Amino acid sequence: MKISIFGTGYVGLVTGSCLADVGHDVICVDINQAKIDGLKQGIIPIYEPGLDSVVKSNVAQGNLRFTTSAQEAVQHGEVIFIAVGTPPDEDGSADLQYVMAVGKTIGELMQSYKVVVNKSTVPVGTADKVTAVISQALEGRGFNAEFDVVSNPEFLKEGAAVADFMRPDRIVIGTSSAFAEGVMREVYAPFNRNHEKIIVMDVRSSELTKYAANCMLATKISFMNEMANIAERVGADIENVRRGIGSDPRIGYHFIYAGCGYGGSCFPKDVQALARTAGQYGYDSKILNAVEAVNDKQKTKLFELICKHYGITGTDTSALKGKTFALWGLAFKPNTDDMREAPSRVLMEALWAAGATVKAYDPEAMDETQRIYGNRADLVLCGTKEAALNAADALIICTEWKNFRAPDFTVIKESVADQVLFDGRNLFDPAQVYRNGLAYYAIGRADSI
Ligand code: UGA
Repeated sequence: MKISIFGTGYVGLVTGSCLADVGHDVICVDINQAKIDGLKQGIIPIYEPGLDSVVKSNVAQGNLRFTTSAQEAVQHGEVIFIAVGTPPDEDGSADLQYVMAVGKTIGELMQSYKVVVNKSTVPVGTADKVTAVISQALEGRGFNAEFDVVSNPEFLKEGAAVADFMRPDRIVIGTSSAFAEGVMREVYAPFNRNHEKIIVMDVRSSELTKYAANCMLATKISFMNEMANIAERVGADIENVRRGIGSDPRIGYHFIYAGCGYGGSCFPKDVQALARTAGQYGYDSKILNAVEAVNDKQKTKLFELICKHYGITGTDTSALKGKTFALWGLAFKPNTDDMREAPSRVLMEALWAAGATVKAYDPEAMDETQRIYGNRADLVLCGTKEAALNAADALIICTEWKNFRAPDFTVIKESVADQVLFDGRNLFDPAQVYRNGLAYYAIGRADSI
């Protein structure tokens, strides 16, 4: 099938290249000329395992092309995906200006029937708005053409997006048009071979499904962080509690890891946006507001543990002035270079405000950190995790990259002057760390308070 994708960000690029990979004829369009020039030369603007080779091989085969010409893209696609950004605006609602601009462009340029697919995460009611803007543009031209606007949310995880797209748990399609449903079934037929994964529903339910999924996962995490905060006060260990409750299949083991807070481009934004949507409909969502508040607080947890260790009780943090902290893990989670809403940022900014220096290492996010913070005397970017330890006073772990899981504790002990480890991801058995002669602070563990 001929498919066009507006937006070559993370969602658009993964969607476009994976659809090309199963044989569809795909054009990706973006207004950013430099990005498109780079993609034509095989330069992938984001780090996502496996994406590089899917893009390159399909470009080589000719079934994945990149352009800045909206005209070319609209003409090409029988199905047109909108996969542009929906950043939060000042009050936390999703900003729809880019989605609406693409809708308008499609209406201005289309010459025949199109299925327009909302792939961006958009508030309930957006498909109706996109329908209206396309109709208006068509009217403005005095041109009559039919189209359907379908909701088809993405459920890709950063770091596993290509695999998630190729082997989806479910493919949600929101439409009340039997014809558009048939077209969408054809688009996804190659991913729907072994058992039925397509779930068709009305547009608004589909739009809400996306938010409900992310908000449910964020709720699980904030709930566990809340339990962790209770656990450390009552002398329990959240890791035992996690195993204890996860064994109940109604609860399950996934997404119940306490930590230094969730980040990324999805959970924080989507929890906020759904709370705002609820508010616009006159409903005060106590749960969503609490999920957000608990997470904001949890991102300060590591700094609180550091203050505790150094005997800081009030607002006077001068005990940290001149200290150097080795920091392992900057990305909001492993297998990505994404620093959006990363807990590491809240931590580093608190340490800097207290006059401390950070020696940071991350397997992928070094360039991104440099881009965000530039050159500053209190940030030293290190090429290896060992280099970060050099001349540091303490070690902090913010992201659970695989190669942080079995460190040489002797090296850590010999390198960090204050012989203390702050672990925001509960990677170790406390007894093991103590055996190695280090003080250990983690999340929701009685021993660490
Ligand atoms: C999330 C969802 O998991 C995807 O299904 C969804 O498609 C995507 O958002 C999206 O809307 O685009 P992602 O943001 O890539 O994916 O990352 P996750 O793997 O969900 O992790 C989110 C955050 O939660 C990370 O900071 C992670 O460290 C944290 N987390 C996760 C915990 O603190 N504890 C857990 O048990 C699990």
